[in-house]
Amino acid sequence: MEYQGLSFVEAIQDLAKMAGLTVPQEARDVGQPSAKVVLGLQDALQQAANFYKAELKKTPRAIDYLKARGLSGEVAAKFQIGYAPAGWQNLKHVFPHYENEVLGIAGLVVENEQGRRYDRFRDRIMFPIHDQKGQVIGFGGRVINPIDTPKYYNSPETPVFQKGHELYGLFLARRAIRDAGRALVVEGYMDVVALAQYGIEYAVAALGTATTPYHITKLMRQADEIVFCFDGDNAGLTAAWRAAMNALPALTDGLKLSFLFLPKEHDPDSYVREFGKVRFELEIQSAMPLSQYILKHLSEDNSLQSQEDRVRFLNEAEPILQQINAPRSAMFLRKKVAELAQISIEEMHGLLKLPNLNKVPVKAKPKLTRTTLSMQRRFCLMLLMQPSLVDKEDLGWAVGHTDEDLLLQQTIETCLKHPNSKPVVIMRELEQKVDAKVFLELGRELNVLDETIDFSLEISGARSQLRDSYAQKIEAALLLSVSEKPLSALTENERLLLKSLGSKARQKRV
Ligand code: UTP
Ligand code: MN
Repeated sequence: MEYQGLSFVEAIQDLAKMAGLTVPQEARDVGQPSAKVVLGLQDALQQAANFYKAELKKTPRAIDYLKARGLSGEVAAKFQIGYAPAGWQNLKHVFPHYENEVLGIAGLVVENEQGRRYDRFRDRIMFPIHDQKGQVIGFGGRVINPIDTPKYYNSPETPVFQKGHELYGLFLARRAIRDAGRALVVEGYMDVVALAQYGIEYAVAALGTATTPYHITKLMRQADEIVFCFDGDNAGLTAAWRAAMNALPALTDGLKLSFLFLPKEHDPDSYVREFGKVRFELEIQSAMPLSQYILKHLSEDNSLQSQEDRVRFLNEAEPILQQINAPRSAMFLRKKVAELAQISIEEMHGLLKLPNLNKVPVKAKPKLTRTTLSMQRRFCLMLLMQPSLVDKEDLGWAVGHTDEDLLLQQTIETCLKHPNSKPVVIMRELEQKVDAKVFLELGRELNVLDETIDFSLEISGARSQLRDSYAQKIEAALLLSVSEKPLSALTENERLLLKSLGSKARQKRV
């Protein structure tokens, strides 16, 4: 666990593999792939990575682009950077069975409405993404031609690639993170690569999602200090605050978390190129600790002068304090908040609903289990982000009475009502309608949803899968009810249904 930074279960599985044993498994979670599928995926992804790497060597235009961005050949080789050629079906050279479903699952090919397949990545610089053991699990592809969009295109979520759990560059950075006792989290692929080229080899990047508590937990296994350094622009500031909020549940008293804010016009890539390693590391030394960042953020647009100001301050501080379980850090922050609100800590404890810090063991590590989102949940989250992509017909197929079914129906209804609203508006309305626990989960999931996906494509894909699976459920239920009646008792409609369902139904009746 220590050496590779793995979780207990991952470490056991690794050891078993070395010894040629298999770990007995409880019934697999629905949605978890079989070992065979995973092997097929890994193999396909590795072959694709090899192909892209070889293509880069053959393509002066791509090499020139990387050179123009100041990348050395050495660092390009280290990160196994490649190039996906222009054209629709270049991967046919690598995979003679281009129709194989594995290529679709791996996210290497996409299918259009007519069922025609083509390569997902075309005319892009390719950054392979590795898991902690060095296996390729996905790619990020950057355009060369500035008019192409999106600027970066990433692999979709696949059975081996969950964006909320993986960090770009972690495999290569592992050693440096341990040596430095510190991990630096940045926003972009190029930031990681440029920093490495300038001798800062402990940087990693989240992949098109905000940093999640899983990311933090993963990094905490390797270092006691995590520094976030995002772009100096407004998007970077927003990302930093989200990272801070997402980190709260993962905090421990042994962890030092801080934030480095760059000048507006810089990202880590441009900053290290202009000022070099020494200056960058000086900046890291003086990065702002999380507690200070939280207090600064809360009082930024709040002068705390009036009673109303201080009420608002407490209102905003409460959900933040609620999420911190690390007793010492939590206590210091509480004291500070109380001080700023000009009340005593006892008064504050009487007012706010906060966890009892005595009950939290000092060394508690947060328990975060891996979760795979259900298709319904993903559909809801995507609709929340892009409510205008809802369809009137969606209410027709989304039936059923489970919590998930109801959430789906409520989300669809709300989006139909406010197709042009922001996610917060939809969320506010949903809060009144769905179970409190489900709502809380939804908020968390929304925070870490990959925003770089092609929503319209993903939503229509999910829609057709969901529609089919709901239709199957209805059919099965009808079939069951019909097959329990004698033929003579059937209505005309039921008779027709039976006929349309064909031989399966008849066999069952016999
Ligand atoms: P930026 O837009 O800040 O780009 O995106 P960058 O990292 O500075 O890249 P260069 O220097 O222009 O090449 C930061 C990160 O956000 C994700 C990528 O992971 C990217 O590295 N991103 C950005 C996407 O996934 N898709 C996009 O279209 C844009
Ligand atoms: Mn950049």
